Amino acid sequence: MRFLSTLGQLPGTWQNLLLIVLSGTVEGIGLTLFIPLLNLMNDESMESIGPPFSHLTELIETIGIKVSPVTLLILITGFTLASLLLGYLQRKLLIKSKQIYSRNLRNKFFNGILDSNWQYSSNRSHGEVANQLNIECARAGVALGMELLAVATAIQVVTYFAFSIIISWELVAITFVFSILAYIVVRPVMAHAKILGEETSIANRNISFYAIEYLRSLKLLKATGAEELPKKDMCKHSNTLNKVSYHSELNTTRVYFLVQALPVILLTSIIGISIELIETPTSLILVFLLFMARTAPRVAQFQQQLNSFHMASPAIRIVNQMITESCNAKEDLNSTGTEFKSIKKEIALENVSFKYKNKETFAIDRVSLKIPHNKMIAIVGSSGAGKSTVMDLLCGLYIPENGKVVIDGVDLREFNIVSWRKKIGIVTQDLMIFNASLRDNLTFFNQSASEEKAKWALSIAHLDDVINNLSDGMDTILGENGQRLSGGQKQRIALARALAKQPHLLLLDEATSALDNESERYIQKAIENIAHKTTIVVIAHRLSTVRRADIIYVMEEGRVIESGTYKELLRKDGRFKKLHGHELS
Ligand SMILES: Nc1ncnc2c1ncn2[C@@H]1O[C@H](COP(=O)(O)OP(=O)(O)OP(=O)(O)O)[C@@H](O)[C@H]1O
Ligand SMILES: [Mg+2]
Repeated sequence: MRFLSTLGQLPGTWQNLLLIVLSGTVEGIGLTLFIPLLNLMNDESMESIGPPFSHLTELIETIGIKVSPVTLLILITGFTLASLLLGYLQRKLLIKSKQIYSRNLRNKFFNGILDSNWQYSSNRSHGEVANQLNIECARAGVALGMELLAVATAIQVVTYFAFSIIISWELVAITFVFSILAYIVVRPVMAHAKILGEETSIANRNISFYAIEYLRSLKLLKATGAEELPKKDMCKHSNTLNKVSYHSELNTTRVYFLVQALPVILLTSIIGISIELIETPTSLILVFLLFMARTAPRVAQFQQQLNSFHMASPAIRIVNQMITESCNAKEDLNSTGTEFKSIKKEIALENVSFKYKNKETFAIDRVSLKIPHNKMIAIVGSSGAGKSTVMDLLCGLYIPENGKVVIDGVDLREFNIVSWRKKIGIVTQDLMIFNASLRDNLTFFNQSASEEKAKWALSIAHLDDVINNLSDGMDTILGENGQRLSGGQKQRIALARALAKQPHLLLLDEATSALDNESERYIQKAIENIAHKTTIVVIAHRLSTVRRADIIYVMEEGRVIESGTYKELLRKDGRFKKLHGHELS
């Protein structure tokens, strides 16, 4: 990002700038008072230095203060302390502004991801989003803070220059020319800092991204003895980060070195010139040098702040780009649409076709199926047949390209989609167990669910025994992704959680495929307990799971190729019978 191009984005920028100007002016006045002080100490009259300083003592006396070394010292101390206080207030405001900015950015970013359509958000890498949310949002705040600090420093420098011009414009002119020369020397180093900043951003992102990806599959990697590849890969990314960080820090040190060395040369030149060429009164030279001594570190600071801004500013672009992207992919929730109340007769897919954005072929091809109210239907078929996609279409996560999903004859698109989703309970294979208490896990989708309702859901899911064995009962913390539970228990908790919501439509995707026979039987019983009390769609690889379904739809390559009851389908001697045969053999 170019310097100043983002100024004003930080809340409170203008109040900040006002405080900076005030603080600089008050400090300048304090320093100027050294002129009469030095004159008094040298027993020189104020007239000898000429206007406007010759009027300074008169001015002080007109406001009723008797000019003496003591009163001048008190005034200098007062002005300096007031300037420091204003500077403190400005810093305090800046810290607050920076934190508010980062927080707002994080919220905007995270909400943007949550509000975007599923097609977009499901394709985002978790590692990358986590990195941007955590590191890049904070860096963006740092960048804007640095930009404002650099502006603050520049304003201070300008204020000192203004006071210095009043003292001696010749000396200021020399200083100005020198500063331009110094800038020409430092500029290439600064440009390099920007490139290194971009590279550090990429290297940081890669580390977070790959670490999360590998940690997520840690069990698989360890169990199959495949730790070497991730180690090597992380080592490679670590080395890259190491290299760019080294060059980046080295570059910062170079800038620091230059900006320390250059002012020394300037100071000695000024003293030489004012003594040899311009006959300036001693008190003016001393106060001018005082101003220069205050200015030099500010110039150094300015360079460093600018450098830090260039290092961190790529984060502003990265985060804003992501926010714009997710805003462009914002999901249309049709919030003014019809409020969904209940299913009266049936949900149906009418000749629905759907294609994923990056795919050539239709994942769902002219599918029609009916899900009657309070019936249990099953969808079976080989992997990739399109079963999960049908569920996503039922939730309105994807919009059909052709055909429609209807509830009691009304197109799903006419409903306020959130009102519909609030009535859906889902259990999928990639079970999400939150690192919270069992109670919080159960009431996650229905915060107002009573203890009774949660316990009812647990008993339906045949979890009473498990709960009795937990140390803190309902208050037991389940650990990250339910580490303390077996696969079967997690599955049943996920089912109990979906039930505690009292869904009008319960979707179970592969809910039993990963389970042993006993756990599967528990789930089976649980489903039987609620069958015909709510509308259920089950996707299962195990055909035994779907034995009691009212209708079974057999899918293949995105199409429904058979449907009927378990017995009817076996009689048909078609695909279902073949699948059934495979399972038995
Ligand atoms: N997010 C996605 N982006 C692109 N293609 C996808 C996506 N999700 C699924 N597909 C493709 O759509 C087709 C149907 O996938 P779907 O997940 O619905 O199958 P499935 O029947 O649920 O399979 P499984 O039994 O393995 O879960 C497959 O060819 C799959 O590769
Ligand atoms: Mg699936």
